[in-house]
Amino acid sequence: MADNKLLLTDLEDWRFSLDQEGIAWAVFDRANESANALGRRPLEELMRIVGRVEEGAQSSEIRGLVIISGKAKGFIVGADIREFDLLTTESAVVEAIRPVNAMLDRIERLSVPVVAAIHGVCVGGGLELVLACHYRIATRDEATKVGFPEVNLGIFPGFNGTARSIRQAGPAAAMEIMLTGRMVRASAAKAMGLIDQLVDSPGALRWAARKAVLAKRKSEPASQAKALLGRWPARSFLAGKMREKVRPKAREEHYPAPYRLIDLFENHGGSYDAMKAHETRAFAPLMVSETSRNLRRVFRLSEALKAQAPKDIAWKPMRVHVIGAGTMGADIAGFCVAAGMEVTLQDLSPDVIQRGIKAQTKLFHRKFKTKALRDAAAARLIADPEGRGLARADVVIEAIVERLDIKQKLFADIETKVKAGAVLASNTSSLQIEDIAKSMADPARLIGIHFFNPVAKMPLVEVVRGEGTRQGEVEKGCVFVTAIGKFPLIVKSSPGFLVNRVLAPYMMGALARVDAGEDMQKIDEAARSFGMPMGPVELADTVGLDVCAHVGKILGLGEEGAGGRLERLVNSGRLGKKTGEGFYVWKNDIPEKKLETYDAGELERLGRELVEPLIEEARRALADRVVASADLVDAGVIFGTGFAPFRGGPLHYKGLSGEPGSERRAAAE
Ligand code: NAI
Repeated sequence: MADNKLLLTDLEDWRFSLDQEGIAWAVFDRANESANALGRRPLEELMRIVGRVEEGAQSSEIRGLVIISGKAKGFIVGADIREFDLLTTESAVVEAIRPVNAMLDRIERLSVPVVAAIHGVCVGGGLELVLACHYRIATRDEATKVGFPEVNLGIFPGFNGTARSIRQAGPAAAMEIMLTGRMVRASAAKAMGLIDQLVDSPGALRWAARKAVLAKRKSEPASQAKALLGRWPARSFLAGKMREKVRPKAREEHYPAPYRLIDLFENHGGSYDAMKAHETRAFAPLMVSETSRNLRRVFRLSEALKAQAPKDIAWKPMRVHVIGAGTMGADIAGFCVAAGMEVTLQDLSPDVIQRGIKAQTKLFHRKFKTKALRDAAAARLIADPEGRGLARADVVIEAIVERLDIKQKLFADIETKVKAGAVLASNTSSLQIEDIAKSMADPARLIGIHFFNPVAKMPLVEVVRGEGTRQGEVEKGCVFVTAIGKFPLIVKSSPGFLVNRVLAPYMMGALARVDAGEDMQKIDEAARSFGMPMGPVELADTVGLDVCAHVGKILGLGEEGAGGRLERLVNSGRLGKKTGEGFYVWKNDIPEKKLETYDAGELERLGRELVEPLIEEARRALADRVVASADLVDAGVIFGTGFAPFRGGPLHYKGLSGEPGSERRAAAE
């Protein structure tokens, strides 16, 4: 009869077993969850497993431990972010971390070999756990990736991953992945020293792990040459270089985490033990900071966007037909191909199709590292001047000229040619979906799938519900958008949908200030100091002044710009970045700016004023039910406009999201 204590049969998130060779297997398979996150309960259970292995190792009953995942697809997605909000003080953070780090030390000190067998994503706390093991084996699979995404949540690794990753990979590589949060494939992780051995398939993992235990394999720390960079004064030099690299990407006052991580490395990177101890001290204040709380909110918002796509739907889009190979259509086609779809691309002119296809080479180069993959992508992007792909397509996206009569005619025609169940979508940015659908036999079928320019860069896609659109079509639209790796946002068919609606008054407001004689460079700098990725005047130039003027007109803001500089520039053909001149003069895609410094307090005040119209419009859009909830408004504005993520969204910032926003909190203090 199995002994409960010895075999730990009462575990809920782990399965523990001991095989005939004396190898203990700890299989992480979190109950009632699709992914393994290291929350409180699984960590406590792991502590019991470690205790059990310590006993067994001492009595020679256990000769090794293998840590592996029970989920088919993933290893460990990190610590459980849902539990972070429970820790509201620095001391609570320190108290929560202490036992976990003590357990990782115990794993590291175990007298028998401890092997991590990794298939699928192994990031954050998951990577920290395996770094405490003695040896790491991973599958070569595309799905197997390691990384430290903590910086995206306003923190850095807190389970002593800073010290352990530096020990294994050397400071240059380890700091780089911690500072960027980027994911690394298994083969690259092996080259860095984070992984020790690769196997071809998940099926080979157990056998390789067993062999590693029996052979007592042990990972080697980073080479002398790599480790040298961690010594003084090389360390200080390296820290300076890192600060230089981070600065253009994240302002210290908005995103302190990377800067505190560099300080930690500079001050303590020479000693493994000091680095471990000081990591917790530097980590705790970040964890309870407003920035981290808001970035966690942004993460939850991104999950809420994805959740708009139902998971229990049998429909799986594979083939896309895009009509219109201009600015948007060609890039939409290319992006879908890069996401793995097969795409047929149609236009009136075969030359335009060819040009559009050729323009995707850059994207394929960025996305695919091998020639074989790039060739395969190119083969999936098919020129289709006659529209033969229509009949087979799962999704049809129209991106032709913005004219109601032409779009109506097109949809009346293609409706007769597509298969049942295919999604029909327009990329229109200013027409009403129900108006376009009027020409169709089944108008409830049409949705909008509204991409932003540049397609590859913008994470959000608005899925537009027309007045009579069937809910099922909207849901399929969301499934398609998530399938190509973008965030969908369901919006009501109304002028400007959400993103252009909130951007227009913000940009027009800024341009009106320029007309009134304010310094445009100062305006842009103020918006950036608020946390916008780009100032509104530079943004107008980047989007194209003709497009801005057009959007302004649709939203009834045309009058405000009448007779102003925007109108004069458009009339004279100076349309911004694309023509080399607009409000700014552009050289090599960079606006020329004079060297100027402004008073920080003034920038701060001006920045807050500049975003007011955007926030006000976001409030109105919610009142008009353009989007279903305040959270989705915030999600749409953050991912659609880049609105200062560390502020948690425009409505949250104003205390209108249901959670206390920063202004309300500040007022309370
Ligand atoms: P574009 O003018 O660059 O491209 C339109 C293409 O459609 C042209 O190549 C034209 O030859 C082709 N075309 C016209 N009628 C056609 C027909 N009946 N059959 C097949 N092809 C036809 O236009 P752009 O900028 O790509 O815009 C396309 C759509 O996307 C518009 O509805 C626009 O409102 C929308 N949109 C544009 C954005 C932008 O930033 N340019 C952003 C988001 C949406």
